Amino acid sequence: MALLGCGVVGSEVARALTANAQELAARAGAPLKLVGVAVRDASRPRDGVDPSLLTTDAAGLVHRADVVVELVGGLEPARALLLDAMRAGASVVTANKALLAEHGRELHTAAAERGVDLYFEAAVAGAIPIIRPLRESLAGDRVEAVLGIVNGTTNYVLDQMDTGGAELADALRAAQELGYAEADPTADVEGYDAAAKAAILATLAFHTPVPAADVHREGIAGITAADVAAAREAGSVIKLLAICERVQGPDGEGIQVRVHPALLSRDHPLAGVRGAFNAVFVKAAAAGRLMFYGQGAGGVPTASAVLGDVVTVARHRVDSGLGPRVLEHADLPVRPMGQARTRYQVRLDVADRPGVLAAIAQVFAEHGVSIETVRQSALPGPQAGGGAGDGGGGAGRTASLVVVTHTATDAALAATVAAVAEVDAVAAVASVLRVEGD
Ligand code: HSE
Repeated sequence: MALLGCGVVGSEVARALTANAQELAARAGAPLKLVGVAVRDASRPRDGVDPSLLTTDAAGLVHRADVVVELVGGLEPARALLLDAMRAGASVVTANKALLAEHGRELHTAAAERGVDLYFEAAVAGAIPIIRPLRESLAGDRVEAVLGIVNGTTNYVLDQMDTGGAELADALRAAQELGYAEADPTADVEGYDAAAKAAILATLAFHTPVPAADVHREGIAGITAADVAAAREAGSVIKLLAICERVQGPDGEGIQVRVHPALLSRDHPLAGVRGAFNAVFVKAAAAGRLMFYGQGAGGVPTASAVLGDVVTVARHRVDSGLGPRVLEHADLPVRPMGQARTRYQVRLDVADRPGVLAAIAQVFAEHGVSIETVRQSALPGPQAGGGAGDGGGGAGRTASLVVVTHTATDAALAATVAAVAEVDAVAAVASVLRVEGD
């Protein structure tokens, strides 16, 4: 076998291949012999890796192995190397979520045409077995929805905001100091990392090719300590969720794939996922509700998933077999975000005087959005004088109005919020959050 990349995960894979060689050989049915490790600088020694194995010739190396493990990341040259490896008859293991989300169809087709395995358990949620359950264990069931906390950095940040009342920038700095967040946290904070993982999960869950471009994406940059405090008051927590679900619309069945922050009741199993942990919640027609939980990143946990794939594809080669293909036959249409149906929490800063609630409720009604609950609390500011002419409310007094809706479409909610913002008594739309997890 060949290893492309020897970073945090690659070096751990190389170390385990040597340290556990005998046991891994027994499981695979043959020794897992590492023939080379492709790196950018072969002169730099790597702990636990025989220096004679290091090479900068990745293109040559993929022709010398029957199993190629790609841990380089990025789109190119990873894509070209994996296609080349498969053309040369090698089975492939990769942790490259961006590559699978962008070029999954091309890679799955190449694996099928060449009769080789393409395994990628480590691409989503690190050590958590979720690819294999969707691809194999649930192959006889019908997955209705997948909800995942698949980004540890943002979960850590939101958890810090929830438990410590921190603002986002401070929690993010703490995440950087602990090594969870990159110096440039854009991919995590803006939801790109989670969107790539959502694309992979949706492809497997619904047997439908879902490129990353089809995933609606909103990050957590706009979440404030006030949002988190309001969520806490309502018995909820804010999580960045990757949501893949079947939807029934006027044109028949489709799917929707989205990543955005959302309110979850503290009773929901995903609400208890703390710190940098990941979890994926699956709803299937026959199996019911399933939850997969664990470490979503880190060299040692991620290497566990990579090595599991390595042993599996090696075993297939020994037995002249193959794992199940990634099926994309259903080819369900991906519906636009406007058709997404969920509940919403709209937080408004309003003038606290008679008729305001009625005016706001009227706007919701006009847009066909049904209100489930309304909660009002005073905002800091001028206090009620109770004087003549203020209709019983204090002149200039303001309140926070938290409106939770019944299920509505995203399009209807967006139109409602735009119209509510125009109501005279509404000083500001403080936040709009989706409410998930029924
Ligand atoms: N940056 C990711 C996270 C790990 O914070 O979960 C790699 O996908």
